Amino acid sequence: MSATSASASSRRKVTVQTILDQYRRGQPITVVTAYDYPSAVAVEEAGLDVILVGDSLGMVVLGHESTLPVTMADMLRHAQAVRRGAEHPLLIGDMPFLSYQAEVPEAVRNAGRFLAEAGMDAVKLEGGGEMAATAAAIVQAGIPVMGHIGLTPQRVRQMGGYKVQGRTAAEARALLADARALTEAGCFSIVLESIPAEVASWITAELAIPTIGIGAGAGTSGQVLVYHDLLGYFDRFTPKFVKRYAHLYPTIVAALRDYKTEVEGHQFPGAEHAVTMDPAELQKLGAPWREHAPRH
Ligand code: KIV
Repeated sequence: MSATSASASSRRKVTVQTILDQYRRGQPITVVTAYDYPSAVAVEEAGLDVILVGDSLGMVVLGHESTLPVTMADMLRHAQAVRRGAEHPLLIGDMPFLSYQAEVPEAVRNAGRFLAEAGMDAVKLEGGGEMAATAAAIVQAGIPVMGHIGLTPQRVRQMGGYKVQGRTAAEARALLADARALTEAGCFSIVLESIPAEVASWITAELAIPTIGIGAGAGTSGQVLVYHDLLGYFDRFTPKFVKRYAHLYPTIVAALRDYKTEVEGHQFPGAEHAVTMDPAELQKLGAPWREHAPRH
C-alpha cells in the first residue's frame, strides 16, 4: 500500500457533525469545488474537508457566461462523477437556478435528488431571508443545507453584475439578518461571497454556525475557492480575491502544442509507445505491410 492510500484509508468520512466540531474547536474548514472524477480524486488525495459541486460548473467547465443555464441534469451528472472520485470529504451539491426558487415542494424534491441519485451529503442554495422557508423545508426533510449570501451569482441580472455586496452599514445589517434567518431555518453553514472582510468577520462572530468565505477576508470559519481558479486552469476571468496556487493553463497549452509539433514532425509515437507484432506472424503477412511500416 502506498503512503497516500495508507493515510487515505485511516481517514474518516467528513460529516456535517465533523464540520460543526471543527468549527467549535476553531479549526479552519477547507472547501474547494470539483466537478468531475479526476478533480474529485485530487481533492480526496489532498485531504480537504469539503467538496462543493458548485454551479460554477456552468462557467468553468461548460463554458457558459453565467451560472443561469445550469440544469439539475448537469449538476447530477457531475455530482455523480465527483462522488465516484471522493470517499472522505463532505460532498455538497449546489442547487442550480430555478431548481428551488419557484415552489417549496419542488425544492425539497430536487434537494433530495442530490442525496438519492448523486450520493451528496448536503445541498447549497443561494439567497437570504427570502429563501429561509425553503431552506427550512429541505432541512425538515432530513437534508443538510448550506446557505449562500452576499454575491449570489444566480441573481447576477438583478445585481447588475458580479459586484461586492454589503459595502454600506445598511447592506451589512441586511446581510446579518439574512444570515440569522438561514441559521434559524436550520442551515449548518453559510457561504459569504464577495463582501468586505469586516462585515464577514462581524457576521461570523454573531452566528453560531460556521461561515465559509470566498472574497470575504480571513475572518470566516473556512474558505472556499473554485478548483479551476486556484489551479490557474481557467484563464479567461479570475476574480481579484482568488489566489492561484498553480498556473496549469499555460502548462496545458504548451503540452498540447508539443504534442501537435511531435505528431506533425513524426516524432510521436516513438518505438517505446508502440506495440509490435510477433515476428513470425509478421512474416505471414508478407511484403505489403512494409509499405505501411512505421517510420521508427
Ligand atoms: O458555484 C460555486 O462554485 C459556488 C462557490 C463560489 C461558493 O457557489
